[in-house]
Amino acid sequence: MQATEVLCLMFPLVTALVARQDQQPGPCDPEPCYEVIDSSACWSAVLMGQEKNATKIFDCVPGGQEEMCRCYGCDSILDKFVVSHQMCS
Ligand SMILES: *[C@@H]1O[C@H](CO)[C@@H](O)[C@H](O)[C@H]1NC(C)=O
Repeated sequence: MQATEVLCLMFPLVTALVARQDQQPGPCDPEPCYEVIDSSACWSAVLMGQEKNATKIFDCVPGGQEEMCRCYGCDSILDKFVVSHQMCS
């Protein structure tokens, strides 16, 4: 009886997580994009103008431009920056 109660509690949580992943807007898949999220200290320096060369954000992740362009939607500020500088078109 207690095991069923635990299952009943967990099931809505699991379905909620799956539903959320299906509805992610923009290019941001949490699984391959964790490196981009992890390196926010690196690319936020570029976004704040501490680093003048905008393409330096591609040096923040091992996958470079390809990875960044697949993941910039993970952060709304990064998203705006990449789009306004047309860095992934
Ligand atoms: C900006 O950085 C990129 C990557 O490090 C480099 O290839 C490019 O030459 C730099 N451009 C300028 C103007 O410094």
